[in-house]
Amino acid sequence: MKLSIALLTPLLVTGQEIALGTGARLIQPRHSGNGCPSGSTNITMSASGDWITITHSKFRTYIGPSYPPAEKTKNCQVQLPISAPSAEHFPQGVKGVQYTLAGTEYEGYYSQLDEGVTAIHYSTYYSNQMDTYTATTIARFDGGETWRAPGRSYNESRMIPLSSLAYTYCARPGATAATFYANERVAMNSSNPQAYGVSFAGEAVDLLYTRRIRVLWRACTP
Ligand SMILES: *[C@@H]1O[C@H](CO)[C@@H](O)[C@H](O)[C@H]1NC(C)=O
Ligand SMILES: *[C@@H]1O[C@H](CO)[C@@H](O)[C@H](O)[C@H]1NC(C)=O
Ligand SMILES: *[C@@H]1O[C@H](CO)[C@@H](O)[C@H](O)[C@H]1NC(C)=O
Repeated sequence: MKLSIALLTPLLVTGQEIALGTGARLIQPRHSGNGCPSGSTNITMSASGDWITITHSKFRTYIGPSYPPAEKTKNCQVQLPISAPSAEHFPQGVKGVQYTLAGTEYEGYYSQLDEGVTAIHYSTYYSNQMDTYTATTIARFDGGETWRAPGRSYNESRMIPLSSLAYTYCARPGATAATFYANERVAMNSSNPQAYGVSFAGEAVDLLYTRRIRVLWRACTP
């Protein structure tokens, strides 16, 4: 009797349900691509399991007369294997959880983005469990006066429409749920061969190219 009161008290006091993602964790996330050379990318998950944060210190895209054409498109694919929270994190009665990726926040910096230059960030999500599932979010930046050197930072968010969200199969406590992949591609083009576009990223905290991926959880029965 004493024990059950002790267990119930925190819930009664706060009146809140425990977030279903609390205690979830990433298992050895991997990344590859010309936008994320080894050692330049950091992938972490928040304690609540609601956000995955990916920071890049070398994700740089360039267009303009002095840059080789290959510099105008960069990409990075991350593999996000997630382990479900252990049973003690689950609210009473919850036996399994499933999750989905719901959208992205983009934070970064353009040193220069001249009139005529367009930079598009494509984020594509898919999963090893769902053959036919892909979702893409797009953030587009059109160059002009407000972006000219010395540049400007941006902070944009794009959601995947609720109707297109695909949840992983139901995972028991502590089990590895399906793996999601997120592919980030930045592509620049230009209508003016003399114009420049420079997306810079560096080690300093305010120069990191940061993507935050929103994770949604729901209860299910395995
Ligand atoms: C990765 O990010 C976490 C959380 O912000 C930080 O504690 C850690 O030092 C970072 N690791 C690297 C290699 O930058
Ligand atoms: C970017 O916007 C989000 C909300 O959309 C906010 O939580 C975050 O703190 C912002 N980042 C910066 C660096 O201002
Ligand atoms: C750049 O790409 C975007 C998206 O595909 C397109 O709308 C735009 O017309 C292109 N601009 C040039 C100059 O090709």
